[in-house]
Amino acid sequence: MNVNKKIKKIAVMTSGGDAPGMNAAIRAVVRTALANDIEVYGIKSGFKGLTNGEFYTEKNSQVEQLVRAYPFLKEKLSETMSSASVSQIIGRGGTLLKTSRYPEFEHQEVRVQAIKVLRDHQIQGLIVIGGNGSYQGARLIAQEAPDIQVIGVPATIDNDLAWTDYTIGYDSATNALAKMFDRIRDTADSHSRVFVVGAMGRDVGDLALSAGISSGAEIVMMPEFPIKDSELQTMLQEKLRDGRTYATIVVAEGVMKPEALVKKLTAMGYEARSSDLGHAQRGGAPTIRDRNVASFMGSCAVQYLLDGKSGVAVSSKGEDFIPVSFEQIFTQIDEEKRGAKANQYEAYQKITYGKVMVPAKYADN
Ligand code: F6P
Repeated sequence: MNVNKKIKKIAVMTSGGDAPGMNAAIRAVVRTALANDIEVYGIKSGFKGLTNGEFYTEKNSQVEQLVRAYPFLKEKLSETMSSASVSQIIGRGGTLLKTSRYPEFEHQEVRVQAIKVLRDHQIQGLIVIGGNGSYQGARLIAQEAPDIQVIGVPATIDNDLAWTDYTIGYDSATNALAKMFDRIRDTADSHSRVFVVGAMGRDVGDLALSAGISSGAEIVMMPEFPIKDSELQTMLQEKLRDGRTYATIVVAEGVMKPEALVKKLTAMGYEARSSDLGHAQRGGAPTIRDRNVASFMGSCAVQYLLDGKSGVAVSSKGEDFIPVSFEQIFTQIDEEKRGAKANQYEAYQKITYGKVMVPAKYADN
């Protein structure tokens, strides 16, 4: 039941770096909205598409092929999304709605144009699925267009959004990295080499840490907890004692490039190689965890609109999903999430070395 009689039309978009599970979130938004008699516009290519008034229509989707085969379906074609338009996407990576990086959205005149597009279509609610940059855009629309309700859904493989335990795509990307690590270990062992694997994550090492834990990497290097060269040497020596002839290191993007670390290791006297999955970390079928979390989050986002909320994002807290304001996300430090990460980093070291080799002290403290 649509308890908020005023909500009749909403829009959904994906923005920023794609993340496996975005499709499951889109599907949940569309189907939950339809169940509440709400029409859903699909905005193409994030804020760029919104500004240029580009909408997903069934006319430009695979449904068109169906219509060619079954002309009687033609009258059912609409400018908004149907249940069929999100069929068979739950297990697909990428995003049906496409995405983009659009720094131009920082300019107010660009946002004025985007808000006009929403108003011209009588869109009363906007759901933005994405990461930090996307939330910044969403927050600005919520501030500058109080007549439009705006809700965020956290989706980024980096897991770097504050005040949510989890972001859609993180589990799938970790799985991709961990699978690669299993292969690298074989060749590192055979050749008695130190092998470096790169992990994405612009400013954070969550992906590096979770891939390191799940694949038993010997060293995890992340920007939050810097390791000195002398500490790197000590850890390697510790590992290469007692007959072990190889080691694997996962290095987060924010620390240095894998090749740069290989140079450093070579200068230290190790035979080293690197491997990088690159953007393949962001592709592929979402894991079951990502499909489930994305489905619940997409559904929550619609519920928040029905409840009259705006300027908030869906956040996962333990087993629950709760609304957290963009204001809080951007102005308050999430000490709990930071503390949990530091604990994980030290737990990882205890598992790997039997003790903490480098205490988890935040670089920005
Ligand atoms: O935000 C996800 C992410 O994959 C980061 O880990 C990475 O730094 C960035 O996107 C890469 O962005 P792009 O695909 O635009 O090069």
